[in-house]
Amino acid sequence: MTDAPLNILAVVGSLHRGSVTRVVIAHVTKRLRAEGCKVDVLDFEDEPLALYNPDTAHDRPGYAELQARVERSDVIILGTPDYHGGISGAMKNFLDHFWHEFAGKLFATIVASHEKGLTVIDQLRTVARQCYAWTLPYGVSFTEDVDVNGQKIVNDAFKERLEMLIRDARVYGAVLARQRRADLAATEPGFLARHREGNG
Ligand SMILES: Cc1cc2nc3c(=O)[nH]c(=O)nc-3n(C[C@H](O)[C@H](O)[C@H](O)COP(=O)(O)O)c2cc1C
Repeated sequence: MTDAPLNILAVVGSLHRGSVTRVVIAHVTKRLRAEGCKVDVLDFEDEPLALYNPDTAHDRPGYAELQARVERSDVIILGTPDYHGGISGAMKNFLDHFWHEFAGKLFATIVASHEKGLTVIDQLRTVARQCYAWTLPYGVSFTEDVDVNGQKIVNDAFKERLEMLIRDARVYGAVLARQRRADLAATEPGFLARHREGNG
């Protein structure tokens, strides 16, 4: 029996109309679809997300639908610009809306930065840890490698690094998704025990 296609949520963490992050997420999306993955793109420029307010967020129109999209995903690709050495407000706002939905899933991180984006990648790793998510053991950052007008990547070395991320997100994402499903259906202890139905 073959596994169902991997569900990937690809998040554009920039609201900038001429965003380089968006171009890279579009490239990764296209490649992952060509590899048989189902990719859902979440772009807050098209789908604005109100600032997270714990008192009202869950009752807002559109929240249940967004939650279902996050819930459905096996892998979450997070693309963000480096803002002051940290993640963008749009990305932070998205992440603030969820935690339970991230548990046991794989995050893959891509950062637009002039400074390697290491502190940004570390912030995303911290969020993953807090939410019991996995991350790839590396992040990918880039700077002058994108032609926004042509909507394409213009540096082969960067494309190659993205190929590594695309392959690893797909392969490790599938391994972790399989184990996550098994753990949610099991009765053994483990970090996913608290996420089993009825234990939330
Ligand atoms: C508010 C703000 C803060 C920024 N801070 C940094 C920074 O600390 N380090 C850096 O390398 N780039 C910084 N940048 C530049 C962006 O990371 C860079 O332009 C990135 O390519 C933008 O990605 P986007 O086109 O997808 O929005 C900053 C840009 C803005 C608007």
